[in-house]
Amino acid sequence: MEKIRAAITGIHAYAPDYVLTNEELTHMVDTSDEWIMARTGIRERRILKGEGLGTSDLAVKAVNTLLEKTSTSPRDIDLVICATVTPDMVYPATANIISDKVGMVNAFSFDLNAACSGFIYALVTGSKYVESGTYRKVIVVGADKMSSIVDYADRATCVIFGDGCGAVLLEPSPNGYGIMDAILRTDGSGRIHLHQKAGGSVKPSTHETIDAGEHFIYQEGQAVFKFAVTNMADVSVEIMERNHLKSEDVTWLVPHQANLRIIEATAKRMGIKKDQVMINIQRYGNTTNGTIPLCLWEWEDKLKKGDNLILSAFGGGFTWGAVYLKWAYNGLS
Ligand code: UT7
Repeated sequence: MEKIRAAITGIHAYAPDYVLTNEELTHMVDTSDEWIMARTGIRERRILKGEGLGTSDLAVKAVNTLLEKTSTSPRDIDLVICATVTPDMVYPATANIISDKVGMVNAFSFDLNAACSGFIYALVTGSKYVESGTYRKVIVVGADKMSSIVDYADRATCVIFGDGCGAVLLEPSPNGYGIMDAILRTDGSGRIHLHQKAGGSVKPSTHETIDAGEHFIYQEGQAVFKFAVTNMADVSVEIMERNHLKSEDVTWLVPHQANLRIIEATAKRMGIKKDQVMINIQRYGNTTNGTIPLCLWEWEDKLKKGDNLILSAFGGGFTWGAVYLKWAYNGLS
């Protein structure tokens, strides 16, 4: 019997309206458009403004339109996985809140935290429920309101991150396409280089931790850069080799958008030309769990059934990985 594969059968994404430009950042911290463009490739990022709005509000916009686009009733969704590092609350899971707001009343739901690799971890996790025949309709969300944990007085991090999200529908593959292979990796010793110091059980938030800014992102940029460049490239090459894919067989590389230099180094190691790489970091910055679905959404019209995609990410944890998938439907154009 042929293996059931899980395929992405629809995608939608959402980025909030407010555009925070490099120019505006120059009035907030000691930085310049030249530095940010040269070191990161980012020109602007989106910020969710408004009292009482969180990650679930970003996700609901993407999921509602995804369901409409795919003519799917929210009642038919079996499972919702939300990959995020900026949940609405520590608990309950943001996935539960999304399910409630969208009316996915028959789904069970949970969050998954693998920092910037979260979307591919969640995609692979969701695919297993479909491949095993347990469930037929799984929503995988990658969503982050990074502005809620960014220190806008810290020039080393505030220029990088933005808010955004995307969601996909996973179903049994109609044509044998879908997720073909995945490699996921973790090295917890890397946590020293990228984390939030306070607000967890080891160091609950206090007036002192807030005064010290320990609820914000702490990142040793150079150390993370070094690991990201090596590991993202290594795992992308490994998944190509183990599936006997040559660079000309890869239609698109869909990399996590953390830094244009990391993306270019990964593409170079894979022997992939720039026009085979989805890049939109210049407009959104690093939206953490949102980057890969934001790319897939913006390129959806160009994608063709049978296209070979390599999704690749590196993030805090450390976490990293790559997914090889054969796209399952033709775009609109
Ligand atoms: O997605 C999750 C995983 N995260 C990543 O993959 C991020 C990986 N790291 C990076 O992308 C880069 O390390 C950064 C973009 C964060 C920083 O770029 P860099 O080329 O590694 O810069 P650096 O940290 O080595 O800093 C170089 C200089 C320093 O000044 P001095 O010490 O040489 O005088 C910084 O203080 O640039 C300075 N600097 C800035 N200057 C202007 C740091 N941030 C800024 C800024 N504007 N925004």
